[in-house]
Amino acid sequence: MAFDLPMRAKKSFNERWNGGMGAVDGFDLTFINAIIQRDKPKQVVEIGCASGMSTALMSLMLDSIGGGRIDSYDLAQNYYVDPSKKVGYLVDEIAQQSKTVVDIHRGHTAVDVGESWDPARPIDFCFIDASHQHPWPLIDTLCVMPYVRPGGLLAQHDLMMYIDKTNKLAIGPKMLFDQVPQRDLVTFNSLVDPSKVEGLRTRKFAGNMFAIKRPPQLARIGLALSRGFYLPWSVAQPIPEDVLIRVEAILRRHYPKGVVQAFNDGIERYHGMSGLTLKHGYLPPS
Ligand SMILES: C[S@@+](CC[C@H](N)C(=O)[O-])C[C@H]1O[C@@H](n2cnc3c(N)ncnc32)[C@H](O)[C@@H]1O
Repeated sequence: MAFDLPMRAKKSFNERWNGGMGAVDGFDLTFINAIIQRDKPKQVVEIGCASGMSTALMSLMLDSIGGGRIDSYDLAQNYYVDPSKKVGYLVDEIAQQSKTVVDIHRGHTAVDVGESWDPARPIDFCFIDASHQHPWPLIDTLCVMPYVRPGGLLAQHDLMMYIDKTNKLAIGPKMLFDQVPQRDLVTFNSLVDPSKVEGLRTRKFAGNMFAIKRPPQLARIGLALSRGFYLPWSVAQPIPEDVLIRVEAILRRHYPKGVVQAFNDGIERYHGMSGLTLKHGYLPPS
């Protein structure tokens, strides 16, 4: 399937992109654009904004199908590569004239999405590119998926980072990928032929993205994905207890007990918090 990016988007991207800025490359953008041109989302959520490169480019892609809205969440206030700049600063540089409305939620994460989400306005497409330490991509996915419309995609970045010798903790996207049932998986190669990606700056490898299709019911996919909680966690810093409790509440609200159990078992096994019993946990202390 070939869906070309708008010319303006290509130019803005090529003028600014370099491999050290922690942003999507030309292959990734082609994958995201293929989804946007095919599915025509109106409401997009992004987890992990950083410079705002992906946010700005998605804004131009949405313009090309009539415009839309992007809510982009990032834990930080400032861009981690250059802290003198605000998270999302490139949106003003690249997409100032865009008719797509962009709202950047600095200091917020996927755990916050549901708190303010209007059920009458389901998310059509979600792009997840925040912490790559396991199980963050899994947590982000499970927290946002209830608010995505059935059939909508949740795309994940940096699948290939687990191979990079300098990034031994960034195994989260691969851990998640390995749990996705075939029927819910959208692979990079099913939407993009890397040999046909032209006129965009790229890394040396393609296939760094995949997507999960949100099924009508959450129970089956939730249970399948939550198996990932049983695999070794790679968080450099313990996830704060109040965040764990909020994640657990989201899981409890939207998924079967087995998902909550997997999360609690993962905490006990891998989080250096053996004996911690979450205040609202299903499990009695053992
Ligand atoms: C790889 S960068 C995002 C790059 C951006 N999507 C792009 O392509 O231009 C990852 C961002 O995720 C943010 N981040 C890290 N952990 C997070 C979390 N748990 N929730 C939300 N954002 C997080 C970091 O502050 C950083 O800005």
